[in-house]
Amino acid sequence: MSYEQTDQFVFPKWANYLLPVLLLSVLGGAAVVPPLVIYGGSAETLNVGYQPDQPVPYSHATHVGKLGMDCRTCHNTVEDAGFAAIPPTQTCISCHAPGTDPQGLPTGMPGAHQKSINLKPVWESYFSGEPVPYVKVHDLADYAYFNHSAHVGKGIGCVSCHGRVDKMGGANTDDPIPGVYQVQNLSMGWCLECHRAPENHLRPLHKVTDLDWSPLDNDRVKAAIVAGDLDEGDERGAQLWLGTKLKEEYEINNPAYMQSCSTCHR
Ligand code: HEC
Ligand code: HEC
Ligand code: HEC
Ligand code: HEC
Ligand code: HEC
Repeated sequence: MSYEQTDQFVFPKWANYLLPVLLLSVLGGAAVVPPLVIYGGSAETLNVGYQPDQPVPYSHATHVGKLGMDCRTCHNTVEDAGFAAIPPTQTCISCHAPGTDPQGLPTGMPGAHQKSINLKPVWESYFSGEPVPYVKVHDLADYAYFNHSAHVGKGIGCVSCHGRVDKMGGANTDDPIPGVYQVQNLSMGWCLECHRAPENHLRPLHKVTDLDWSPLDNDRVKAAIVAGDLDEGDERGAQLWLGTKLKEEYEINNPAYMQSCSTCHR
């Protein structure tokens, strides 16, 4: 679940083009300014709903929603590294080995639907050793520093930033294009809104990849409801109550540090 997001970004819109210049002349000197200005304000960073065509019609709705695979099976660096790796071809080949089926239907898969699956780019990658040329969906400007393990390791779930990826694409949804699309605008205002009040999002560490998790499922919340400390069915109240406890237990940095320029522009 995620709560309503409001964009509290304090700079006016025209500043998009001017501010990177100011920032970078403070941080780095004039030589690096031109390329960053060109890429930094790129519409795609802020583009909610951005969903590029992908070389393979891979769907999260099928693999996560239907087959129940965990995010970390494929994005296996999210907990340890800054980036969340796109899975190597070998991960797919364990189920979609180049077989005799010219349609590319998964071999030996019980219950596979009988439609044609274009896995040609995956198999080409398998034989050539080159990665499948997926198009990046989320792309922050280089002057903003982001780190996955810093978030996932402190109880921020994938769903807070990427939405219901498990419902994106596939035969069992209304979405005709299978690829991932961008749910949040990834602006500085969006980052800061959570950095000011992470209790609105913190969850138990073992639930970070459970996109369907609700604080009302939590045992401590249930006990607090029985004790009369929380109202039954009040999801937002439950999140705040649990999130405030977790903030202390995880020793989340103070709001000043969380909002300081050098936390994200280093
Ligand atoms: C079977 C492997 C597999 C599993 C499991 C999987 N993914 Fe993916 N994921 C991919 C592939 C392949 C891509 C690249 C194609 C695309 O973007 O649609 C991708 C792309 C993404 C992207 C977009 C990356 C970008 O370019 O910005 C996000 C976000 C993402 N996955 C999140 C998740 C989350 C969250 C989960 C768990 C709920 C998950 N994935 C589970 C294979 C997987
Ligand atoms: C655990 C086994 C498994 C793994 C690993 C796996 N797949 Fe699949 N995949 C399946 C099954 C089973 C289906 C058919 C599901 C159905 O019938 O709805 C499928 C369907 C597909 C389809 C058809 C469209 C869709 O999603 O419904 C594509 C394309 C595909 N897989 C690509 C990939 C790619 C690319 C990877 C690696 C990133 C991958 N798969 C990893 C089991 C797997
Ligand atoms: C606090 C927000 C946040 C959380 C939580 C989060 N992501 Fe991301 N994710 C991002 C941002 C921002 C980017 C773009 C990073 C960039 O361009 O440098 C991204 C990019 C990605 C990518 C593309 C590869 C990359 O590293 O650029 C994948 C795949 C991905 N996320 C998967 C996941 C999965 C799986 C989870 C949960 C285990 C997760 N993310 C949790 C914000 C988040
Ligand atoms: C949904 C909440 C949420 C969102 C959205 C979010 N963050 Fe965070 N961020 C956190 C939490 C919680 C931490 C962990 C703080 C700690 O370890 O004390 C964190 C930590 C970080 C850190 C590591 C700080 C350090 O030095 O330990 C960086 C860097 C960071 N975030 C950058 C970003 C950027 C850039 C964005 C936007 C693209 C973003 N965050 C969006 C909640 C969030
Ligand atoms: C929580 C992370 C975070 C913190 C803290 C933060 N920024 Fe940012 N900042 C970002 C992100 C993310 C972007 C947008 C990157 C993009 O567009 O891809 C950004 C963009 C900018 C820009 C470019 C203008 C624009 O509209 O995109 C400037 C200038 C800037 N930040 C200055 C600052 C200053 C000054 C501070 C301290 C007062 C600060 N930032 C604190 C994450 C942060």
